Amino acid sequence: MTDMIRRAAEDIAAAEYVVALTGAGISVESGIPPFRGKGGIWDRVDPMTFGHIDTFEESPEKVWRVLIRDLKTIIEQAEPNDGHRGLARLEAMGRLSTIITQNVDGLHQAAGNTDVIEFHGNCARQRCMDCGNRLANSAVDISALPPRCGCGGVLRPDWVFFGEAIPEDALRRSGQMAARCDMMLVVGTSAIVQPAAHMPIIAKENGATVIEINPERTPLTGHFSDYLIRGRAGAVMNGILAALEPLMAERSR
Ligand code: APR
Repeated sequence: MTDMIRRAAEDIAAAEYVVALTGAGISVESGIPPFRGKGGIWDRVDPMTFGHIDTFEESPEKVWRVLIRDLKTIIEQAEPNDGHRGLARLEAMGRLSTIITQNVDGLHQAAGNTDVIEFHGNCARQRCMDCGNRLANSAVDISALPPRCGCGGVLRPDWVFFGEAIPEDALRRSGQMAARCDMMLVVGTSAIVQPAAHMPIIAKENGATVIEINPERTPLTGHFSDYLIRGRAGAVMNGILAALEPLMAERSR
């Protein structure tokens, strides 16, 4: 892994415009379970039932009880880990422009990244199904489910359920960034949910170097990514930063 980490540091040092695509795996070390693989949420909750907007509209109380309540509590208690902090350090060094995240936990912003495209929205906010009012989680009382807005409307996470469209501006900007970058770091995603999983393909088709950071291979590996650094995001990002800092210091002499 060390050679790959050194190679990634050299590639990042030489890149002109770096974008990251992140998935649930980067937040695993913050205590937030992934959706698939070991400890995956979808192993115990059927995504096409409880993750779908039709079910929420039909029985919001059940979806709040089975899926949202516990996930919201875990997210509220979560802190950024070395994976998030490593990407924030890359931005601070001028080596990362934008993060396209599939995650709804807000941990990239909490770590300090300033340009984060929330491809699937965010669970740190709840939105009223009637008046559209958005409330921070801290202002939402979940002693009774589903929680309601002052107007009486049902509150829902400000995320994208299955069966809903990706926010237009997020989709447009992500496609533009993927086409513009000359490097994409793909961190902690199984790369199977579209259209997010298409972003590394757009990057590759536009000549970018695509680097995956993941303990496992994905459908991108060996086809669209140039190489996979097999490991957990925190340790790999720590290694990349340790190799990159002296390279950047040399360049600035
Ligand atoms: N560091 C890096 N990667 C990790 C780690 C870790 N510590 N732990 C697990 N992974 C990897 C897994 O190997 C897997 O490839 O993270 C990935 C997690 O995959 P998913 O759970 O499918 O998460 P994600 O790719 O973000 O899912 C995409 O699916 O259900 C929808 O809306 C949901 O945004 C989500 C989307």
